[in-house]
Amino acid sequence: MATLAQAKAAERIGNTPLIELTSFSTKSIKFYAKLEWYNPFGSVKDRPAYWMIKDGERKGLLKKGSSIIIEPSSGNTGIALAGIATALGYKVEIVIPEKVSQETKLLLRNLGATLHETTDDLCPRVGAGTDQSIALAKAISKPRPDIYYMPNQYENEANFLSHYEATGPEIWEQTDGRVTHFVTGCGTGGTITGTATFLKEQNPDIRVIAVQAQKNHLLQGLRNFEESSMPDLFLRRKDVADEWFTATNDESFLMVKELAEKEKLFVGPSSGAVMSAMIKISQGMNSGSSIVGIFADDGRKFKTLYQQLKLFDESQIANLTANPKHLPSLAFDAD
Ligand SMILES: Cc1ncc(COP(=O)(O)O)c(C=O)c1O
Repeated sequence: MATLAQAKAAERIGNTPLIELTSFSTKSIKFYAKLEWYNPFGSVKDRPAYWMIKDGERKGLLKKGSSIIIEPSSGNTGIALAGIATALGYKVEIVIPEKVSQETKLLLRNLGATLHETTDDLCPRVGAGTDQSIALAKAISKPRPDIYYMPNQYENEANFLSHYEATGPEIWEQTDGRVTHFVTGCGTGGTITGTATFLKEQNPDIRVIAVQAQKNHLLQGLRNFEESSMPDLFLRRKDVADEWFTATNDESFLMVKELAEKEKLFVGPSSGAVMSAMIKISQGMNSGSSIVGIFADDGRKFKTLYQQLKLFDESQIANLTANPKHLPSLAFDAD
């Protein structure tokens, strides 16, 4: 059920904090994390979800009270779309791999989304051999264009623009133009292409590091580009990536633990992957470097997974969530 809190929350997307990771910074190399879970619905995906809905409205593809937004998502885009769209008067259906965490599915249902579960991998494949999630969302929406709108984050230019017009300028301002390296995980490629295109327009020397997940991964939101071809949105500007880093499950989860211990941050798996990449690339780097990483979501949706992996026990999780540093309440907590 949409609430006033949700509707108001949609207005505060973006302008997320950039913090220095002081236990990792040295005199010569600074580490910064952009905490995207400060977005009202809890992740970097609030940005493209909002931009794609607004774009659909501008193009007359959405009608309040009657349109249904349908999208394949492994979680965060679904949560953002459900939170924002229901508040704006649209119904939402999400096609989701059953492997996605229980917390994510519960959250989606609580936000009013109808779920269609598939047996897909965590991140639906695109292109040739498209997985069930994308095919199913298309099959449901295509015959009923009068009712259904599928934003299709894998192709929608509004996804790119949400980062080109906001994430990039925010990082540029927050670092006073001092950012030298930009590191982000990749799913659709919206974050990397939008943010990096803007940053390189300001300073072409900024190095951009793309993080992909290992094959057969547990890093929700990320993709492995051998397992699954590159989405069209990413292909249009894939040259913005200067370097690639493939994060393993193990190193990413170890880094989740290290960030909890050293920085008291409770991060999602992909932030662990990004941090691993930041540390790796910092080796041998010039003095005066400032590395900015995108921390896409926090750990609250992954408590069950973290306990299954024996990363944290129940009391450690209780401690991390009871004494939160940088763990704001989300729009749906207000309901
Ligand atoms: C959880 C999560 N979702 C999404 C993204 C970015 O995805 P996209 O390439 O679709 O912008 C990331 C990137 O780090 C992520 O960690």
